[in-house]
Amino acid sequence: MYRKEKNLFNAKEFIESSLKEIRAIAKDAKVISACSGGVDSTVTTALVHKALGDNALAVFIDDGLRREGEPEFVLRTLKNLGVKTRYVDAKKEFFTAFKGKIDAEEKRKAFRNTFYTIFGKVAKEENTGFIVQGTIKADVIETVKGIKSQHNVLQQIGISPEKYGYKILEPLRELFKPDVRRVARELGLPKEVSERMPFPGPALSLRVLGEVTPERVAIVRKATEVVEEETKELGTFQNFAVLHNDKATGIKNGNRLYGNIVTVRIVDSEDAVTATARKVPYEKLLKIGKRIVEEIPTVVRCLYDITDKPPATIEFE
Ligand code: XMP
Repeated sequence: MYRKEKNLFNAKEFIESSLKEIRAIAKDAKVISACSGGVDSTVTTALVHKALGDNALAVFIDDGLRREGEPEFVLRTLKNLGVKTRYVDAKKEFFTAFKGKIDAEEKRKAFRNTFYTIFGKVAKEENTGFIVQGTIKADVIETVKGIKSQHNVLQQIGISPEKYGYKILEPLRELFKPDVRRVARELGLPKEVSERMPFPGPALSLRVLGEVTPERVAIVRKATEVVEEETKELGTFQNFAVLHNDKATGIKNGNRLYGNIVTVRIVDSEDAVTATARKVPYEKLLKIGKRIVEEIPTVVRCLYDITDKPPATIEFE
C-alpha cells in the first residue's frame, strides 16, 4: 500500500494543499511551530512560515538532551530559513521530570508531559492557541498500536491537546519519511536537513537506559559524536550509541574499574517500520569501540547490536 502511495506522491501538490490547509485553519492567528531541527519538524516549520509569514513563530525547546552542537545547528537553520525563532531553555524542567524514573514508557511519558506543558506555557505567552508539529504516519501507527508512546502523538490516542491549552496542526500526518524528504527537497531546504538522519523527539533520553541525568546524557552524547564521526560515509539509516543501566568490570590506568557499558547500533531501513543491522566492517567497529572506551573515562566496554527490527525496535526504549 505504501509503495503505491509513494509512486503517486507529488511533493509540489502536497505543499500547495498543505499551505491551503494551514491558512484555512490558522486564518489570522499566530501559530507556533515546535522545531527540533530534524527533517519532519523543519519541513513543518518551513511550511507554516511559507503559509503565514510573520504569523509563524518557531520555538526551539532546549531540553538538555540534544547531540553535540545540535542547539546551535537548529538555531542557525531557522535563522537561514528567515523564520522568527524563540529559544527556550528548559533543561532543568526536563531533568527534574526524569528524576528517579527508569521505566522506558514512564520516561517517554515524562518527556511528553514536560514538552507539552512547556509548549502550552509558551503558546500562552505568545498569545496563540495553535501549535504545528511534525508528526508523521509512522509515529501515529506505532503509538496507536501501543508499541511506543511517541512524544508527539496525542489526539490519535484520545488525549485532548486542549488539556495543555491549544489546538495542534499536523500537516505531515499522512506522510512516511521518504515523502517528507521529497517535500524538504522541493522546498529547497539544505541537504543537512533534507537528508538528515532520523533522530527521535525525546532525543538522547531514549539512549540512556535507566535514569536520565545530565552526567549520563553527557556520556551518551560523547559516544554518539564518535559513532557519527566514524560512520558518516556508511550511508546507513541510523547510527547511534546507547548507555546501559548496568555496569561491568574493566581495567583503566592499571586499576579495576566497575564502569559503564555502551552499545553501538547501526541500521539500514527505508521507513523505520522494519530495519536490519548493518554488517559494518570489523576494522571500523574496532575503531569505534576503541575510541569510545579511550575517550570516555567511565566506559569500560563497548558492544555492537546485531539485531534486526523486528524483533528488536531501532531504539532501545
Ligand atoms: P523504533 O525504536 O520504534 O523507532 O523502531 C522507529 C523510528 O522512530 C524513532 N523514534 C521516535 N521518534 N519520538 C520520535 O520522534 C519517539 O518517541 C520515538 N521513538 C522512536 C526512532 O529513532 C526510529 O527512527
